[in-house]
Amino acid sequence: MTERSATLILFGATGDLAGRMLFPSLYNLQEDGLLPDDFLIVASGRSERSDEAFRAEVTADLEKYIKPERYSAEAVEKLTSRIVYCAASSGNADQFEAIAERVKGREDKGIAVYLSTPPSLFAPTAQSLADAGLVNGATRIAMEKPIGHDLQSSEEVNDAICALFDEERIFRVDHYLGKETVQNLIALRFGNMLFEPLWNAHAIDHVQITVGETVGLEGRVSYYDGVGALRDMVQNHVLQILSIIAMEPPARFDSTSVRDEKVKVLRSLRPFSGEMAKTQSVRGQYTNGAVGGEIVKGYAEELGETSDTETFVALKAYVDNWRWAGVPFYLRTGKRMPTRHSEIMIQFKPVAHSIFGENGFSTGLEPNTLIIRLQPEENIRLLIMAKEPGLDRGGVKLREVGLDVSLTAAFEKQRRRIAYERLLLDLLEGDTTLFVRRDEVEAQWQWIDSIIAGWREAGVKVANYSAGNWGPSSAIALIERDGASWHE
Ligand code: BG6
Repeated sequence: MTERSATLILFGATGDLAGRMLFPSLYNLQEDGLLPDDFLIVASGRSERSDEAFRAEVTADLEKYIKPERYSAEAVEKLTSRIVYCAASSGNADQFEAIAERVKGREDKGIAVYLSTPPSLFAPTAQSLADAGLVNGATRIAMEKPIGHDLQSSEEVNDAICALFDEERIFRVDHYLGKETVQNLIALRFGNMLFEPLWNAHAIDHVQITVGETVGLEGRVSYYDGVGALRDMVQNHVLQILSIIAMEPPARFDSTSVRDEKVKVLRSLRPFSGEMAKTQSVRGQYTNGAVGGEIVKGYAEELGETSDTETFVALKAYVDNWRWAGVPFYLRTGKRMPTRHSEIMIQFKPVAHSIFGENGFSTGLEPNTLIIRLQPEENIRLLIMAKEPGLDRGGVKLREVGLDVSLTAAFEKQRRRIAYERLLLDLLEGDTTLFVRRDEVEAQWQWIDSIIAGWREAGVKVANYSAGNWGPSSAIALIERDGASWHE
């Protein structure tokens, strides 16, 4: 591990993510003794505020978001006393000079910059930092997603950042990689002998990845409209999960080995054509309905106008390589779904030859299914065949039973950390394993661009679904045409 950064410069410090996730994560790291003793946070937003006023805002956020059993007014005071506030807009040299003034004398102790701002500000902010002398060989920079809105714009952002920072100092955040449950996929696959021999096209019929959310627009109109579920969720979180599920075993658990394997998967995704867009993808948008017993407005109503932005997307994807030849990966994600849950379902093939029942039929024999639930609760369920108790006069009857592992229960005493705790600590310590490398982001965009081009070519419009449903009925047809169904 390299030297820890003793200064964090946080842009977008007055934003929602900082209040909800970043400051609470820093609080938790501090309480676990994981921040350097002389740690300084330079918080920056566009509007002017005094240090005191900003500290009061952070205090209010911590009161709201820190679990009562971990909350201590003294610890809050300790964290906020480490924060100074500097208003800054990229290009404003005086403001960046003021930041440099705050950091003066600490440059050698390592600076980590965190950009929690719109992507259009990444390059100008980095340049303004460099102009103010704040970028040296030890400075690290983290950027929230999205990196651009297509391949070209992401290349532009990457070019600008890479001109100032070496790749090992660039931390592209995908907060799903900070989730314990997503990291656990690597442990499940490569820490057990059981699964790997069957993890391929010989034994697996198809894979499903579902990331369902119950929330709607959440006041993010200006960001979300025109972006949509494909860019907001599939381009990053869903594809990162897919790449971990589909990758070859890395030789070591380090940033180069893991990311080398993930990018190979991303590059093997079969690009979409207009024809495929028509038959292998569904775009949906919620109309009014009910989620969790609560009546909610439709997207267009929340927005105040009609829009062709999708709030749901379902795709049938292929990873065109030897391991996964011919295995469909069904992906879906959406807002205003009936439940908030993320899971991966691996559907195995039927046994090669059934010895049960007449001609192997009518016995209840089903292929095995592995369900890995990532959130809200974390568990792994393997559906296996068991014999129903009885004298079997009419032949053996089989039934699916679950081998259930609740990781939440198995690790009940351990605190589940916010994904950002891990990511912030890795940033401060310089470990890029759980961050997205440039070639990964670009491979992700390349595939996403092919889908968007396919939609345009084939004129694929959003289909409506009532809030509280798993997308439009065409999403069900997408998988049922292949003789399978979504796991719910
Ligand atoms: C963000 C998306 O990246 O992830 C949001 O921009 C989405 O639209 C969020 O709600 C989901 O994250 P989580 O951790 O709540 O599953």
